[in-house]
Amino acid sequence: MKLWAGRFRKELDQKTNDFNSSISFDSRMADEDIIGSMAHAAMLAKQGIISAADADAIRGGLADILSDIKSGKLPIDMNAEDIHTFVEGELTSRIGDAGKRLHTGRSRNDQVTLDLRLYLKGRCSILRSHLENLISVLCDKAEQYSQAVMPGYTHMQRAQPITFGHHLMAYSEMFLRDIDRLGDATARMEISPLGSGALASTTYPLDREMIAKSLELNGVTHNSLDGVSDRDYVIELAAVLSLIMVHLSRFSEEIILWCSWEFRFIELDDAFSTGSSIMPQKKNPDIAELVRGKSGRVFGDLMALLTVMKGLPLAYNKDMQEDKEAIFDALDTVEICLTTFTPMIDTMRVLTGNMRKAAAGGFINATDCADYLVSKGLPFRDAYKATGSLVALCIDKGLTLESLPLDEYKAVCPLFEQDVFDAIYLDRCVAMRRVYGGPSPGNVLNQVARVRELLRSCSTDKD
Ligand code: ARG
Repeated sequence: MKLWAGRFRKELDQKTNDFNSSISFDSRMADEDIIGSMAHAAMLAKQGIISAADADAIRGGLADILSDIKSGKLPIDMNAEDIHTFVEGELTSRIGDAGKRLHTGRSRNDQVTLDLRLYLKGRCSILRSHLENLISVLCDKAEQYSQAVMPGYTHMQRAQPITFGHHLMAYSEMFLRDIDRLGDATARMEISPLGSGALASTTYPLDREMIAKSLELNGVTHNSLDGVSDRDYVIELAAVLSLIMVHLSRFSEEIILWCSWEFRFIELDDAFSTGSSIMPQKKNPDIAELVRGKSGRVFGDLMALLTVMKGLPLAYNKDMQEDKEAIFDALDTVEICLTTFTPMIDTMRVLTGNMRKAAAGGFINATDCADYLVSKGLPFRDAYKATGSLVALCIDKGLTLESLPLDEYKAVCPLFEQDVFDAIYLDRCVAMRRVYGGPSPGNVLNQVARVRELLRSCSTDKD
């Protein structure tokens, strides 16, 4: 029997019922639906809208339903229109008339958006701890490889020397911003829309603040039309999730490159790699490729949400039911990506010797060579030009700046002395990059300490 049975003379066509129903995907909000209903019932009783006895019966009935759903004793009826209908129907069949009083002063329109806000809030806090785990693994690795010299790239060309620790800490900055953004998005999510009713609130004297407080939300929505039709918080979260995927995807791209025989900067653990069905030599970075690929799904979810909302008149429209599958898919995807990616990074083997070899082969100390001439008084532009000729000379002779004899240096510029070889020594080039934010080993350790401290204060904030 449908909630609207009084007005209709026929049962809904089965296919239409399936099309209309959201229970196959919104039953995951059962907890939040029940907790929200408990808060609503307690408020109705406090305001004298229903009796204390009815509120008690509702609370008891809902608590039983919740534990029966959790234990599997109560299977979800896939024929129900949605989780709200299912819970209310079950409650009424268990406790009778009191169950029919639960929906007083409420509509599914304010109920569904309350449930979604509560559900997403819970998922955001799980997501945050996954991000924290990843950052903490990055800190451990960066500490371990704070001195490992590698080439830094621009345009995918070897550019200047950095450390592997510094490279990893760049990603930790991105994920820290993601945590910040999650915080911003949840701040606007943690607001109670209950009391907005279907669209025009209600004539019952509801205490909206009481519900918000009992659900640990930070306030109430201020306009009933907006209360039921706002899905900004869903879109904002999808945007945050998309950015997390951008970061994971860029990182994955590098992992894939670093695993190739051309680079061989890292080797992934066997537990996080796959083989080929035909080529026995292959060890493929499938996990990183999948993460890179799955970013497309999450961006698609964001686009779907924007498109669903963009033409909707106020207030509730059924189109908005489409919000759930998109945001759930985005959340599930990011969560599985993070929980697979983190142990993959944690267990990778870093081939520092190969990084160093690559760093030695690409003239990445040319800027330092030019800076050496600047320290001897030559204007930077002239120093740049002189070093450029040295690089061309090295390429012709098949040499590096390290192996080019001093006379050749002197022939290009008489300011060169023996100490140029100290100046272009890779470890020194990196160690000298001590400017705040730079890649020197000391800086990397400071970055790690700073980020660990941030993580510690994040976790005390949560307590
Ligand atoms: N399943 C619906 C949704 O997800 C719940 C709200 C239904 N409201 C309505 N007026 N039909 O949006």
